Amino acid sequence: MHSPDEPQHGDTAFADLARRFAERLATVRPCVDARYVRPDWVRRNAELERDLLPVPPPDFLRHPSIAFQMFVNERLLPHELPYVRSRLADERPLAEPPVGDPPTVPLPGSDLRTSSNTVHQLFHLLRYQEATGRRVDDAATIVEWGGGFGALIRVITALHRGEPTCVVFDTPTFSAVQWLYLSAVLGEERVVLHDTAPVRPVPGRVNLVPIGLVGATDVDADLFISNWALNESLPRAREDVVDRRWFGAGSLLLAMHAGDPFAQVVLATGATAVPLGDFMPGQHYLVA
Ligand SMILES: C[S@@+](CC[C@H](N)C(=O)[O-])C[C@H]1O[C@@H](n2cnc3c(N)ncnc32)[C@H](O)[C@@H]1O
Repeated sequence: MHSPDEPQHGDTAFADLARRFAERLATVRPCVDARYVRPDWVRRNAELERDLLPVPPPDFLRHPSIAFQMFVNERLLPHELPYVRSRLADERPLAEPPVGDPPTVPLPGSDLRTSSNTVHQLFHLLRYQEATGRRVDDAATIVEWGGGFGALIRVITALHRGEPTCVVFDTPTFSAVQWLYLSAVLGEERVVLHDTAPVRPVPGRVNLVPIGLVGATDVDADLFISNWALNESLPRAREDVVDRRWFGAGSLLLAMHAGDPFAQVVLATGATAVPLGDFMPGQHYLVA
């Protein structure tokens, strides 16, 4: 866990990072694989680029392609927050960085503000630990497919007692958004945006890899995570990930609707289904 005295990079760095966003996005934009991306995500990416260029606004997390897709409703808080608080030895991972102006709520009985999204991401990791008996700390190399704006990776870096090597595959637009968000929150030196094959992840860093470079990425994972993302990619992406045996990962955390046909494929590889709970009917984790 990182010390509370570490500098918060968000405020000072954001303006500088935002000025360089267009150039970073231009370097990764060609690194796409159209065989992987569903039309609804092509549209969300186009809308995001239209509105974030040339310089993303300070409240970029409020863009509909992010806010409506990645911030769960605050009605989930009473179901998830008590579970999360009862299992965290230290509440600092609940603190919401101000970068991107996310919608926040006060954390009762504390000076911190949190968000329904941060609580939701912590809930996923803690439920994974409970269901598998493993710890996120057990994983030195973590691959995430479809990382949103970077919320789960931020929480992993806060929870993990080591310096894990993280690899996040996403569309080029979202890889660039993750670069902006995670550089502002963690410090730019901890984030690597890859734009050239072959991709060799930098140990101990957050490596952001646009999906056009998946086939050229040399990674041997311990834990593979994909929450509501691989099932939202085209079949070719799922086939390639299953063919690569989850990038070598011996442990899995996926989330999707129980009725999703891909759930059967994941179960057939040895995963176990765990319902999120009555407050999210039909939604399951698939863990191994
Ligand atoms: C519904 S969001 C979920 C984000 C995050 N996992 C969460 O739970 O908040 C879907 C994610 O999958 C990504 N995605 C969509 N199509 C993809 C593809 N073909 N390959 C990789 N990522 C993709 C989106 O950009 C987004 O980051």
